[in-house]
Order: sequence, then structure tokens, then C-alpha cells
Amino acid sequence: MTQELTPDQWRRRWDAVDRYVTELLAPPDEALTRALADSDAAGLPSIAVAANQGKLLHLLARTLGARTVLEIGTLGGYSTIWLARALPATGRLISLEYSPDHAEVARANLARAGLDSIAEIRTGPALETLPMLAAEPGAGPFDLFFIDADKVNNPRYVEWALKLSRPGSLIVVDNVVRGGSILDAGTDDPAVRGTREMYELVAREPRLDATAVQTVGSKGYDGFLLARVVS
Ligand code: SAH
Ligand code: DHB
Ligand code: MG
Repeated sequence: MTQELTPDQWRRRWDAVDRYVTELLAPPDEALTRALADSDAAGLPSIAVAANQGKLLHLLARTLGARTVLEIGTLGGYSTIWLARALPATGRLISLEYSPDHAEVARANLARAGLDSIAEIRTGPALETLPMLAAEPGAGPFDLFFIDADKVNNPRYVEWALKLSRPGSLIVVDNVVRGGSILDAGTDDPAVRGTREMYELVAREPRLDATAVQTVGSKGYDGFLLARVVS
């Protein structure tokens, strides 16, 4: 098992290991399978979290005893289903999505999963819907945040998450490695610049205690960042 592999062979191995892990520990059910199938059929990009990553979000929410979740970037609601299933019947998940088309697919997927009384999707650019949400009486604090939208705005999303948090809340940010491209300090790729600014903001923010972990798998080489709100 230690022979040299070509990049393509590595990708196939990562994929095979994800399948192995997923079959045993995060097997799909009807609602999850159909959520992906209907997202595909509607022409949404295949960029939802992998099943084992969805299961990680679910386990984090359960471990926190989360009752409230704020997601930024819904797509077809696949990660939303994993997260909403971790909440009690009285729990609440709000997911912010720019595209009305994506939101429509996601709403149908959540309804089929029986989660429409827990999970609500709000359409619009998150930098517009976040201040509206924050202005509502009783909005937040949220126990868990999943930030997975346009990466250029990641620093702003972390700032909003902090505003809407309490000590002990957890902020998860997806796609923080991007094949290692985040090392490129001179890049003009807005997604990489936004992600690097987000790291720097998290690093200097005394209210956050954080780490980031690199991942390989069916989604390639990427990673996620975890930040705990300490005060
Ligand atoms: N969390 C999903 C994947 C999200 S993909 C999952 O794992 O299943 C990223 C989503 O963010 C896309 O649906 C995209 O339309 C949305 N998005 C992009 N820019 C946005 C913005 N400014 N505000 C809110 N959502 C945005
Ligand atoms: C992309 C976005 C994601 O959130 C992701 O997990 C993978 C890829 C993308 O925009 O390419
Ligand atoms: Mg993502």
C-alpha cells in the first residue's frame, strides 16, 4: 500500500475510501439520495458536502446539543438535511441562499425529509439577509454556524456569525484549503483572498479559538475550519 501512485490513482483511492467509510458509517437514506438526485436533475452543481462530511456536521451539532443552526449557502439542502436532523423537534435551522432556483430545490428536499417545520430557507445575498435576520427580535444566538457560500465573503460571514453567537457556539467554514491554493499570498483569486482574510481575522480575534484540518476524499483535496466562540 505504499507504492507511488499517480494523481489520478490517488483520487480514485480517496474516492474508494470515502465510499468504504460512507457505506459503513453514513449510509444514505431515501431523503438524502433524492436530495442529491433532484439537485442534479435541476442542474445544480455537484458541490454539496460528501456524506461523511455531512455526518460530521451532524455529529458536531449533536455533540454541542445544538438547538439552533445558521447555515450560509444552502444549494439543494443536502448539508441542511444532515444538520436539521441533529436538532430536536423544537429546534430551528435557518439557511441563507442567494439563488431562488437553488432554494426551491432545497425546500422540496427538506419537505420530503420531513424537516420543513425545523428548517427555513431565506433567499437573497447573505450580506443582505444577515442584517435583516439580526434585526429580528429573538434572532439567535445560534449554537452552530456552517459557512459554505461565496468564499470571497468568508471574512464578513465569520463576523456575522460572531455577532449572532454566544460563548460556546461553534463556527464551521468549508473549503478552506482548496487544493493548497490558499498558500498563494499573491493570488488575485477572490475566493482564495477571501479565505486567507478569513484565516487572518480568526487568528487575531480573541473571541475565537480555532483550527483547520486538511481533508482528501470524493471532493478532492480541501479542508474545513472550526472556530469555538470563547467569550
Ligand atoms: N452547503 C451546501 C453547498 C453550498 S454550495 C451543501 O453542502 O449541501 C454554495 C451555495 O452558496 C450555492 O447554492 C450558492 O448559490 C450560494 N451562494 C453563493 N453566493 C451567495 C451569497 N452571496 N449569499 C448566499 N448564498 C450564496
Ligand atoms: C465549490 C464550492 C463548495 O462549497 C464546495 O464545497 C466545493 C466546490 C465551488 O464553488 O467550486
Ligand atoms: Mg463547500
